[in-house]
Amino acid sequence: MDILLDRRSIRKYTGDDVKQEDLNYILHAAMSAPTAKNTKCYSFVVIKNKNMHKKIAKIHKYAQMILEAPVAILVVGDQNIVYKGYLPQDCAAATQNILLAATAKGYGAVWCGIYSNKERSKNIEKLFKLPKNIKAFSIVIIGKSDDSSIHVKNNWQIEKIKYEIWK
Ligand SMILES: Cc1cc2nc3c(=O)[nH]c(=O)nc-3n(C[C@H](O)[C@H](O)[C@H](O)COP(=O)(O)O)c2cc1C
Repeated sequence: MDILLDRRSIRKYTGDDVKQEDLNYILHAAMSAPTAKNTKCYSFVVIKNKNMHKKIAKIHKYAQMILEAPVAILVVGDQNIVYKGYLPQDCAAATQNILLAATAKGYGAVWCGIYSNKERSKNIEKLFKLPKNIKAFSIVIIGKSDDSSIHVKNNWQIEKIKYEIWK
């Protein structure tokens, strides 16, 4: 499987757990993402608690699949150490690495956006008791895929590519 070309958002899961060694690999990949000026301003909250999953589902209308998933990872960024305004870019790179690492280990995952929805950010930051400088960016939900309707799609679009100048 070509994890870069074949990755899809997976929103249905079997009941199977994500092995701790795979979770560590996924978190290691997240921490290996590039950050502006190498601040590594991100941190990750692993969420397995079903009660927390229910609370997240109440806050985030488009993250209902968390109710069926064994694990989710909240990606946050530290405003005190980030370089200039690059927190969203740094956390997005980490989020993408989580998706790709999960795919590489045979899991399905989906990126659920928090930034830049003010209401959602406020509610998530309150739920997780985040200090003022720690900003919620995304939640990635991970599990073994149980979605046979999802297929690899070809995203090649020649019209998206320009050479040298926009013409
Ligand atoms: C910033 C961002 C926020 C997203 N938020 C959600 C979300 O809240 N819920 C969800 O089900 N999918 C979410 N997605 C996943 C997209 O819907 C998905 O990537 C897109 O439809 C393309 O499908 P694919 O990932 O299977 O290629 C988000 C993706 C990004 C990049």
